[in-house]
Amino acid sequence: MWSVCVSIVCVCVSVLLHQAISQPPTESDTYTECTDGYHWDPQTQHCKDINECETIPEACKGEMKCFNHYGGYLCLPRSASVFPDSDPPNQIPTGVGNTSSEPYNPCPTGYEAHGDSCVDVDECEQGHDCQPSQECINTEGSFTCQCPNGYRKVGTECIDIDECRYRYCQHRCVNVPGSFSCQCEPGFQLAGNNRSCIDVDECDMGAPCSQRCYNTYGTFLCRCEQGYELEPDGFTCKDIDECSFSSYLCQHQCINEPGKFSCVCPEGYQLLGTRLCQDINECETGVHQCTDSQTCVNIHGGHQCVDTNGCQEPYVQVSNNRCVCPVSKPGCQDLPFSIVHRYMSITSERSVPSDLFQIQATSVYPGAYNTFRIRSGDDSGDFYIRQINNISAMLVLARAVTGPKEYVLDLEMVSVNPLMSYQTSSALRLSVYVGPHAF
Ligand SMILES: *[C@@H]1O[C@H](CO)[C@@H](O)[C@H](O)[C@H]1NC(C)=O
Ligand SMILES: *[C@@H]1O[C@H](CO)[C@@H](O)[C@H](O)[C@H]1NC(C)=O
Ligand SMILES: *[C@@H]1O[C@H](CO)[C@@H](O)[C@H](O)[C@H]1NC(C)=O
Repeated sequence: MWSVCVSIVCVCVSVLLHQAISQPPTESDTYTECTDGYHWDPQTQHCKDINECETIPEACKGEMKCFNHYGGYLCLPRSASVFPDSDPPNQIPTGVGNTSSEPYNPCPTGYEAHGDSCVDVDECEQGHDCQPSQECINTEGSFTCQCPNGYRKVGTECIDIDECRYRYCQHRCVNVPGSFSCQCEPGFQLAGNNRSCIDVDECDMGAPCSQRCYNTYGTFLCRCEQGYELEPDGFTCKDIDECSFSSYLCQHQCINEPGKFSCVCPEGYQLLGTRLCQDINECETGVHQCTDSQTCVNIHGGHQCVDTNGCQEPYVQVSNNRCVCPVSKPGCQDLPFSIVHRYMSITSERSVPSDLFQIQATSVYPGAYNTFRIRSGDDSGDFYIRQINNISAMLVLARAVTGPKEYVLDLEMVSVNPLMSYQTSSALRLSVYVGPHAF
């Protein structure tokens, strides 16, 4: 009985308060704005409670006592002493009926008295029956239990939504309670929209290429400078030992260097181009130490200083390089009348047979014939003479020789004039220097 009546009263007040707050009545608006149990009091500009206990005859029957109340009245046993009749009509009584353990609240459910008006109760602060998985949302006069973002309600529980089922992510999707995140494959990074993946320029990010780096879609490539090769790790560049490829890269010696190689030549040679060695002509460059009485002879890999006047007894000097054995001198009969000095240089390992030097008779008597031979200096038979005609012959290298080595060959030409029974002999003293190299 008690609770039912109070409940009705509260509904009435709720409507009143709502109207009073949102639409304050103007002077032309009369008490018609007030709900049942109230009438408009133009003096106070408020809806004033109607004392039904006075206006309604026999409001309560029998032993029941009428208690006026806001927007209505209560019929209670006479022993009850709850409301003083004299409460201000539209004031919310305080401390009245505080006999029960619950504080009396004249405001509708979800509101509580604050001064003389009813204010919304924040049920979320003061206790609610939302599930632990749910979020409490306070509303005017009430509250709701909502699932947090990323959850959906199944029965009374909130269940995580598996966003990954909806293909939000370009690459990989990781569902987490209440949310999800997108991840990218290696080599990509999440774009600003947190869903697309964009290529990472690893070369800008310090990719571990030891030399060149090329960014590609999703990855990168390391490449090496010329003269280097990529190690199996794909990052490191290793110097290529070009010298190990071929022994023909350099004529003499190959020197491997980082990223390249170079050729070096032995002493007495200079590099011709990149791989060939060319003999330095010390006699022309002037680095020789030959004296004024000497002649500089350039040979492969060096030079020789030979005495310009190198005639030995019984020969006498008649001109540069030419010695004569006068017939008047004893011992000259069996020797060539004249000796001319010549010098030549050959390389080692020459292919054989090889024409080296052509001997030519300078004066020819009519009817005479000339023969040529190696008179001395070829003990091991490395040379032979090939006669070309009456007046010339060729010195031929018969065997491959390796230097450094020096031969001094006396090549003799014997001229015979049968008509005049005259025979004469002259020699060419040929110094053959064999260089230490095949170039
Ligand atoms: C109402 O009773 C509560 C305890 O039930 C007490 O804390 C409170 O002070 C009382 N209010 C008044 C106005 O007497
Ligand atoms: C992406 O995620 C970051 C960090 O979680 C956040 O600050 C940013 O607002 C998100 N951007 C978009 C477009 O959702
Ligand atoms: C070579 O000598 C022969 C005699 O042995 C002679 O008949 C011939 O004419 C000579 N040839 C020359 C080119 O002198």
